[in-house]
Amino acid sequence: MPARGYEIIGTGHHVPGEPVPNDRLARVMDTSDEWIFKRSGIRQRHYAGEGEGASDLGTKAARRAIEAARIDPAEIDYIVLATMTPDYVFPGSAALVGANLGIPGVPALDIRQQCGAMLFGYQIVDGLMKSGAARTVLFVGAEAHAGFMPWEDWDVVTGDATREVTAEARARADAHRSLAVLFGDGAGALVFRATDREAGLVKMKIHTDGRHAKALYVPGGGFRTRPYWKKDMFDEQAHIPRMDGRELFKFAVTKLPQAARAVCEEAGVGLGDVDLFLAHQANDRINEYVREQLGAPRERMPMNIDRFGNTSAGTVPILIDEVTRSGLLQKGQLNMILALGAGVHWGAALVRW
Ligand code: ACO
Repeated sequence: MPARGYEIIGTGHHVPGEPVPNDRLARVMDTSDEWIFKRSGIRQRHYAGEGEGASDLGTKAARRAIEAARIDPAEIDYIVLATMTPDYVFPGSAALVGANLGIPGVPALDIRQQCGAMLFGYQIVDGLMKSGAARTVLFVGAEAHAGFMPWEDWDVVTGDATREVTAEARARADAHRSLAVLFGDGAGALVFRATDREAGLVKMKIHTDGRHAKALYVPGGGFRTRPYWKKDMFDEQAHIPRMDGRELFKFAVTKLPQAARAVCEEAGVGLGDVDLFLAHQANDRINEYVREQLGAPRERMPMNIDRFGNTSAGTVPILIDEVTRSGLLQKGQLNMILALGAGVHWGAALVRW
């Protein structure tokens, strides 16, 4: 029987290791705490360790969400996992999380909408619930960006060593500094369950414009070449994403307010009816601008970029876990999810909590 509605009954998150403050990054490339904080609002981030993949972080977040939901993992009948930094080129990390949780046989779907993943994930959960295909769905957003950071001196970054890095290493990292300072690792997980309450997605406006795919993409390691990974790709730093930060910034501050207004208009509600704006955290200045455009007070757009940086698909579920545990997020609220990710994928969703 399809559900009348569905709600989040448990949330969890996990970030690996100790926080790495901005000053530490200044030891491996030309940057400063002042520049990073002023331009992005980030103070620190976490990095996955060697051998630690998105599925490991995702599993830890999922276990917390399952514990909070007070369910047995065997009650989960679908897993949706979002990551842009999977453990392997294939298979996807969703299958690995299912195995780690001890629930083999449960269908596990990978999606790749980068920082826009929570929106697309919500729509998939909505479809699964409304079609009756599932009653308990685990959504996981997990990222291990450490693998594309432009330095090799990890002991300096983690604070285990204080030596000077070579001029060559510093120059190599400098070329990617505007990208490298933004991203951090972590995972968030949400357990959705069918309910008789009228809860769930109210309205959604999502879009994709592949013409801007190269605004943020990884040039190396794809199946356009034979073999799909060549020795010289590493020398060309082709494993490190290329990002046009200004283009994405402009895109975000234009498209996110548009999507927010459009979804409210379609739902027949005002922006003032929205309790919380749960926005992806790519840059504090982007969110500040969007918030001002929407006329929303600061306390209605919770932020955590200062502590985690941009954790891509992990961000919105981590934020939802934090505001659930702090009590800011409550049942019955009308909340808006706002996100934009590489692809470019973006949009806004109104959710009755
Ligand atoms: N430290 C110090 N200086 C730096 C750094 C750094 N880390 N990075 C760049 N600079 C320098 C630049 O070289 C430039 O110097 P110049 O003026 O001498 O040429 C100066 O700082 C200004 O650079 P801009 O690129 O103009 O800085 P801007 O204010 O645009 O900020 C940033 C750059 C933070 C990348 C911003 O554009 C941004 O956040 N864009 C959005 C990125 C984004 O959203 N990415 C994620 C997409 S979501 C996903 O799917 C993962």
